[in-house]
Amino acid sequence: MCGIIAVSKRTAALADVLDILRGALESLEYRGYDSAGVAVVIPPEAVTGKAPAGKASAGKAPDGQEVSDDKIWIAKSAAGTGSLNELAKKCEQFVLSVGNAPTDIVAGIGHTRWATHGRPIEANAHPLMSCNGEVAIVHNGIIENYFELGAQLQKDGHELTSETDSEVIAHLIESELAKDGSADVGDNGERLHKAVLKTVAALKGSFALAIVWSKAEGTVVAARRISPLIVGITSDLILVASDIPALLGYTRELFALEDDQVVQLRPGFLKLTDIKGAEIEPTPMNVDWDVQAAQRQGWDDFMCKEIHEQPSAVRDTLMGRLLPNGTLTLDETRFSDDELRSIEKVFIVGCGSSFHAGMVAKYVIEHWVRLTTEVDIASELRYRDPIMDSRTLVVGVSQSGETIDTLRALREAKRQKAKVLVVTNVVDSSMAREADGVLYTRAGPEIGVASTKTHLAQITALEILALYLAELRGTLYRQEISQLLKALAKLPLKLEQTLAHEAEVSLVADQFGQANTFFFIGRHVGYPVALEGALKLKEIAYLQAQGYAAGELKHGPIALIEPGVVVVGVATRTLLWEKLMANIAEVRARGASVVLVANQGDTETAERADAVLWVPTTHPLLAPILDIVPLQMLAYFLAIKHGNNVDKPRNLAKTVTVE
Ligand code: F6R
Repeated sequence: MCGIIAVSKRTAALADVLDILRGALESLEYRGYDSAGVAVVIPPEAVTGKAPAGKASAGKAPDGQEVSDDKIWIAKSAAGTGSLNELAKKCEQFVLSVGNAPTDIVAGIGHTRWATHGRPIEANAHPLMSCNGEVAIVHNGIIENYFELGAQLQKDGHELTSETDSEVIAHLIESELAKDGSADVGDNGERLHKAVLKTVAALKGSFALAIVWSKAEGTVVAARRISPLIVGITSDLILVASDIPALLGYTRELFALEDDQVVQLRPGFLKLTDIKGAEIEPTPMNVDWDVQAAQRQGWDDFMCKEIHEQPSAVRDTLMGRLLPNGTLTLDETRFSDDELRSIEKVFIVGCGSSFHAGMVAKYVIEHWVRLTTEVDIASELRYRDPIMDSRTLVVGVSQSGETIDTLRALREAKRQKAKVLVVTNVVDSSMAREADGVLYTRAGPEIGVASTKTHLAQITALEILALYLAELRGTLYRQEISQLLKALAKLPLKLEQTLAHEAEVSLVADQFGQANTFFFIGRHVGYPVALEGALKLKEIAYLQAQGYAAGELKHGPIALIEPGVVVVGVATRTLLWEKLMANIAEVRARGASVVLVANQGDTETAERADAVLWVPTTHPLLAPILDIVPLQMLAYFLAIKHGNNVDKPRNLAKTVTVE
């Protein structure tokens, strides 16, 4: 998804601010992007070299850099994942040609674009300018009424030059500034703030916005509806970004904008208002991630690092909940025990890997807690008219806490008066703030686009929740619970043992490196593991991979099984192992190659496979936490063998903030 950064820095040269913008855009890269751009308001004192070409003289320097008369410099690149490199070169050339004297204050904005409306070309890359070249904006989200707004703007004489839904925002702000009678007098930061208030009131859809105006030197105005936006503050620097990792290197003094809030910022000045202009006090965020956690630290890529961080992600998620005396505590969810006892039905909702974690939770909650549990894809649940009431617990599962489909489904649940609990990795994320209760996973920042450690942490948190409910509602004996807690506590060590098989998994990837059709099958809790294994392979290796409930194979998909197809079975020992083996026999009989996830030393399973992925034994309902790991590694090695960038797979975004 698009990434936004805005900076205002005191006693800075242009190069300082461009460096901060570039660095922040690099840390937003993981969200996925196809083009990028920056804009800075040029303070006259900074210009010591050859003055930049004016907008009147064509608006574009020969290398695609734009400079307006009103001293906003813009550079863009639509070179796909090479955009940030190209942008860095343009910034260097610009600073060389214009000069770099220190000035009182410099403001700028930057953007990585993940195309929705309009092709990934430079004209559609952000920042986008108003006609008079005085206002530059960056936008994440979708403006649903852009067509009507654009038509009206054109009637009023504005010239729209991009194919985007976003450009109207720059022109609307220009119009509002023009309507403002106090033109060119008074506080221009305040005038921009007011123009943005009027503009966002006219917008339908979702937005995270950052805006600079050449006449409001050093001021950034930012606004938010649905799409996330975080503000970071230091004594001489303010930053606004789409997510926390972009800010971690500068400050932990952060707050998140809420829906329909607008903020006006300069170092030493902050004014936060609601959409009507009433002032609000920001609520600080509590972020305990450190900068190193969001860096590669010598690993080849983030995905590999994060796969190896899984033992600590699970350990940290258990910490403080699993007490040394073998009992469980879950005070932090904000629900009283009576409220949790009153629940009659559970819905679990999420997307992608988070949905798969929710599927595992359905099995455990139904089995341990004996509560009817539905699990649904957020984008489906939201629009299928589900029936909920105050005795329904709706559990939203989301690594980012920002996925728009899940956020909307949870809002629908709240509208129906259900109790909403969120399992998320991002403290104070939108879902965490809006939910009635939160259960944080403690996986640390996940930068690789494909979820790995956060997925395992989600399953862990959901298993804890299920055990807590079982204890509260008396559906399991105390002794059963304490055995399960002991088994949970052993998982970090068993994950380390699983990761120790990495080299063998790499050999299995070599063995099937030429295959291009994979089926992942499993039964019971092995079924969501199969779906997750297939998703990982699709996402990063770009291979045809289908996930199926093993028993369902014979109802159609088995027609596709033939020599050359690889069937990956989740064959750790559960009650349904024999039935799964029957399904494996069916695919072997039709010529498929078979790879099985099996418990360490289980020769009976190994005999039925062309290759084995070993995992330690655990309680069958906890097994997904181990079984998924070799499948993540298999996808990883196949992706590397195919020469893919595992951290930034094509077409994907880390946080999906459009529906
Ligand atoms: C898969 C993956 C996605 C996310 C999905 C939900 O590896 O990362 O399928 O799981 O986009 O994202 P969150 O969990 O942030 O709501």
